[in-house]
Amino acid sequence: MGKITIAIDGFSSTGKSTIAKQLAKSLGYIYVDTGAMYRGVTLFAMRHGYVGGEEDNIDGLLEALPNINLKFVYNKALGFSELYLNDENVEQEIRTLAVSRQVSRVATIEAVRLKLVAMQQEMGKDKGIVMDGRDIGTVVFPDAELKIFMTASPETRAARRYKELLGKGEKVTYEDVLKNVQQRDYIDSHREFSPLKIAENSIEFDNSDMGLKEQLDRILNFALRIIEKE
Ligand code: DC
Repeated sequence: MGKITIAIDGFSSTGKSTIAKQLAKSLGYIYVDTGAMYRGVTLFAMRHGYVGGEEDNIDGLLEALPNINLKFVYNKALGFSELYLNDENVEQEIRTLAVSRQVSRVATIEAVRLKLVAMQQEMGKDKGIVMDGRDIGTVVFPDAELKIFMTASPETRAARRYKELLGKGEKVTYEDVLKNVQQRDYIDSHREFSPLKIAENSIEFDNSDMGLKEQLDRILNFALRIIEKE
């Protein structure tokens, strides 16, 4: 039985990472959350004042790109990998609403995308990988054997994200979170480089009214059917 590449794309807060993580665990595959990488670059840019201040300094960020070192380190106790930015564990910080507010803009920068896509292709060169993001099936691995495009209504996604942020003690309102989800949808699907769109041969998967177990069972089934033939 050969190993395959699984690309999971879709809008923000569709539960992509939860499914992708579980799927990778069930198959014994590597899991890569590419959104975390865009968030890592964004956190770096915010800390150095390239974005998030009164005026963006994109040229400054471009110049600093070679100084951004990202890596995933597996945390055995948690059972998943955490993102390190220049050897600092930033897994918590990259998930804040402050970073979410800036990340879509940083992800429109072509040089940022080129750097991260090259890293992602290197991580997946031996297959046996589940990668989630926005451009995995279209740009990073257009030849992936299984491509899933996850969708759910903006309200469903905002409600999930709101609950998650409250659970982490962030002081946010549902309206703020919904606005952020809608703004990110717009920017992600209208940007010039690698806009979010359904890849060719992708399975569209609406999980608005589906529990986690049903989603996992169905997607695992798709994967196993392909793996058997490899
Ligand atoms: O999946 P996420 O919400 O953590 O992603 C954060 C942002 O990064 C999102 O606004 C879009 C961007 N992104 C991207 O442009 N391409 C990817 N492959 C992954 C994420």
